[in-house]
Amino acid sequence: MRIIETIAKLRAAIAEWRRGNPGGTVGFVPTMGYLHDGHASLIRRSAAENGLTVVSVFVNPLQFGPNEDFDRYPRDPERDRRVAKAAGCDLLFAPAVTEMYPRPAAARVVIRELTDRLCGASRPGHFDGVGTVVTKLLHIVMPDSAYFGMKDAQQVAVIERMVEDLNFPVRIVPCETVREPDGLAMSSRNVYLNAEERRQAVILHETLKLAEEIFAEPGMTPGRLMAAMREHIRRAPLADTDYAEVLTWPDLQPPEEKPFGEMPPGSRFIAALAVRFGRTRLIDNRLLEIRTPAGKE
Ligand code: PAF
Repeated sequence: MRIIETIAKLRAAIAEWRRGNPGGTVGFVPTMGYLHDGHASLIRRSAAENGLTVVSVFVNPLQFGPNEDFDRYPRDPERDRRVAKAAGCDLLFAPAVTEMYPRPAAARVVIRELTDRLCGASRPGHFDGVGTVVTKLLHIVMPDSAYFGMKDAQQVAVIERMVEDLNFPVRIVPCETVREPDGLAMSSRNVYLNAEERRQAVILHETLKLAEEIFAEPGMTPGRLMAAMREHIRRAPLADTDYAEVLTWPDLQPPEEKPFGEMPPGSRFIAALAVRFGRTRLIDNRLLEIRTPAGKE
């Protein structure tokens, strides 16, 4: 695995690989580092599907609000190298902030749809920052496929839409969330939790499991489902709900308030949560789909 810190060297290394491997494909896993098993699963998938896997580690200041955790976001470059290498990364791109943003940018990506709810509502400007850095990274790497974890489902929806709207020549591959043994979604931010917060953080997973179970109950509506989710989170005394919502997927619109049973088969929804434990904000989600009645496929 090569570690590369400049855009010019990364482009040269990828171009050289492409020249030596005509028809070979490049997979890309963008990350903010502090790699865990969730990231490793994205890297392994890319390595299984492509001849060359590029991983970026860059804590992107543009996607953090003024009162967010940019400065204290966890960083461990040594471990990142080990995890990336073991998972099958070929080129690890770790640029400095000045390499990615040598001067204040005049051009930026603005995502207007899909961002006024969920994390977009709680973190104004966050998805413009994500859209801008992902655009830059995709233009630098020019991968055939880029791999994103579904824990950040709104991010996946936003990036898929950006790539479609702006005709980026890349396949976006959403990948399943990797969980700790008790069900907590893996996240670099889990490290902030103290022992009691960590114990109670399983409430996110439990609430989504409950949502999945009761979603198909007769008469269940989006409003009732959201109320049940909010009620369930209250069982964890340290949990402070930022949002607990059910929206259409992938458009992220509020669904009509009528029983799910009366909605067309194949309709998809997302049950999404953001819950604070002290200063730590955790997110998780579950996709729900109205099943086609048996025998009607
Ligand atoms: O999901 C993340 O870690 C970041 O939002 C991403 C996609 C690497 C952009 O900075």
